[in-house]
Amino acid sequence: MKYTKVFLCLLAFLLSLTVEAGAAGPKPGIKRSTFGKMSDGQTIDLYTLTNKNGMQVGIINYGGRVVSIRVPDRQGQMADVVLGFDNLDGYLGNNPYFGAIVGRYANRIAKGRFTLDSVEYKLAQNDGPNSLHGGVKGFDKVVWKATELAKQNSALELAYLSKDGEEGYPGNLSVKVTYTLSDDNELWIDYHATTDKDTVLNLSNHSYFNLAGEGNGDILQHVMMIAASRFTPVDATLIPTGELRNVEGTPFDFRQPTAIGARINNDDEQLKLGRGYDHNFVLDRKGSGMTLAARVVEPKSGRVLEVKTDQPGIQFYTGNFLDGTIHGKGGKVYGHRFAFCLETQHFPDSPNRPSFPSSELKPGETYHYITVFRFSTAP
Ligand code: GLA
Repeated sequence: MKYTKVFLCLLAFLLSLTVEAGAAGPKPGIKRSTFGKMSDGQTIDLYTLTNKNGMQVGIINYGGRVVSIRVPDRQGQMADVVLGFDNLDGYLGNNPYFGAIVGRYANRIAKGRFTLDSVEYKLAQNDGPNSLHGGVKGFDKVVWKATELAKQNSALELAYLSKDGEEGYPGNLSVKVTYTLSDDNELWIDYHATTDKDTVLNLSNHSYFNLAGEGNGDILQHVMMIAASRFTPVDATLIPTGELRNVEGTPFDFRQPTAIGARINNDDEQLKLGRGYDHNFVLDRKGSGMTLAARVVEPKSGRVLEVKTDQPGIQFYTGNFLDGTIHGKGGKVYGHRFAFCLETQHFPDSPNRPSFPSSELKPGETYHYITVFRFSTAP
């Protein structure tokens, strides 16, 4: 009798454990694990943010990179919708900024130089004649200090002090980027920076999205909306000419949702220069607050990505330089146009273009902006 009781109690306990695990799925919060080691021995951690719907975002403190975003399709099937690698070696090797925080200056600065307060600053020319994404060792290649924030939502703060003169830029720049995963399936990216000398700055995130799942074909069937009536046409080295061109009647008009592939191979000078879309769009906005910048739907899975920001521009890039040489997660081959990027930003080459919104930061000021990647599904 006594043994039966003990046995029954034990059985009930085991059952309750199984039910709990099954119903709740991964526990909401942040989980830290080791991702790899740098050549100097520094450990790189993977922080997995989970919300109450089971959506998960993986972030590493090398380059502040988003290494995975797992979201459901309209049937509830989860898939990882960003390109990347299974281990640190992949990120340390040659790759086009997968998932990274880019800075100090995301995008291009013409001929790798600019003048500020009558001083000319010289930067690395790491993209033809221009400087791209912060230079040779930009924020995508540095180790950030990670702090798990005790908040209602899962939030991870990454901090980095970029020393005066690093990659040629003036001022000690103290940067904080906070990734927060909300229960509304929104990934918030909060950028903060202060400086002790006048400087220029443009931070962004370089995630490569494929809403059908990473490695699952090209993104040409994705339907894109960009809330922009103008874009900044470029020269042959992808530097804006200074013109803000109306999108009306051009393949750059995404004000009505249009398949990315519908016009990408049109006989259009700007598309030829970019080898596809690789352009900054001037966001239509009322005032300076958060606005819906872009909305992307993948028709088969029904996954939807919305991008909201308080920045003036967004770079729409269609993975034109992906050519099948990179093998990503699970050995998958990342072919031509297997992903798109939506990089919220100040316009490229702003330090040399007084007519563009200013990208300057002075001592005593705080650079602060927000981008939200919101995931949902469409019927
Ligand atoms: C940005 C640029 C592109 C390309 C990628 C990285 O999106 O605009 O031209 O350099 O980064 O390959």
